[in-house]
Amino acid sequence: MSTVTDNQPKLYAEAADFMPLNGTDYVEMYVSNAKQAAHFFRTAMGFQPLAHAGLMTGLTDRESYVVVQDKIRIVFTTPLKSGTKIGDHIDKHGDGVKVTALWVDDATHAYKTAIERGATSYMEPRVEEDAHGSVTRSGIYTYGEVVHIFVERNNYKGIFLPGFEKWETYNSNPDMGLKYIDHMVGNVELGAMNKWCNFYKEVMGFAQIISFDDNDISTEYTALMSKVMSNGNGRIKFPINEPADGKKKSQIEEYLEFYEGPGVQHIAVATDNIIDTVTKMRNAGVEFLRVPQTYYETVLDRVGSIDEDIAPLAELGILVDRDDEGYLLQIFTKPLTSRPTLFFEIIQRKGAQSFGKGNFKALFEAIEREQELRGTL
Ligand code: FE2
Repeated sequence: MSTVTDNQPKLYAEAADFMPLNGTDYVEMYVSNAKQAAHFFRTAMGFQPLAHAGLMTGLTDRESYVVVQDKIRIVFTTPLKSGTKIGDHIDKHGDGVKVTALWVDDATHAYKTAIERGATSYMEPRVEEDAHGSVTRSGIYTYGEVVHIFVERNNYKGIFLPGFEKWETYNSNPDMGLKYIDHMVGNVELGAMNKWCNFYKEVMGFAQIISFDDNDISTEYTALMSKVMSNGNGRIKFPINEPADGKKKSQIEEYLEFYEGPGVQHIAVATDNIIDTVTKMRNAGVEFLRVPQTYYETVLDRVGSIDEDIAPLAELGILVDRDDEGYLLQIFTKPLTSRPTLFFEIIQRKGAQSFGKGNFKALFEAIEREQELRGTL
């Protein structure tokens, strides 16, 4: 049964406020070549160089590059020698998201509260300082090997975190209009979705705002179940997917097989002008999933009138969906990694607070065509 909500502010209010989160602070990926990963995000996705840590700053075992676009900060970290935990992570999962860092006013309180409520510790509160002030960070595990790090930075004026220096480099790459992380989706094993939704509810005070089941999201071959968890102010939204039975291997199962466990499936980033953003990204070499052009013959019958011309949407492959509050425009990249795992979504919300349910069928059929080509369906 579909339970898409029509009264989200009320449901957000069901979230408990014992762990106030101000927003996403940064996302850290463990990758095999941080320098080149950062380059791709700069040249193909409009991120700007922000900070760097490595041999030049006194680290001997790893290097990190940090890129930024409006409120989105992404850290790419690579080991500089064998036998490291970061290297083990990359060996097992390929390039992937290790850390979703959450901005808090009190990282010690957030940590203590989470641990008391059942979280597993990743990092006890620790204070890091440099000439620009101090940052307190702490961390807990979530699904798979993914961790949430709480970042308290009220007393810090530096470029990113203590230990990082400004990344000075020639830069002529334009910003592409990405504004903030809208939501970040986790794929977990069959049967584990409710466990992790409960984790966000019990440990972090989130509320469930939407759920989908295999009646909403199924094609001839694939199915998945999904619940969307949100914190109280709605700034942090974590949908959790698990596979459901289908005739062939679902995209979630494909992810779990290639990532060798649960992990972050996609990061959705918001723009105020999706046509401009996607044009720039496409021209810079980002590959997007395509739906058949027939999608555009009927889309306006489904969603009603929209501000945008349909021609550029059809040309770029941008999808449209509507809910009770408005509509949204969205598009999904192909996997950004060699393993068919992590991808990005570009989303422009025009009132709608949902996640594009009306596009799932067309989209999943597009994903299945790609799986077929990979021989993994
Ligand atoms: Fe999404």
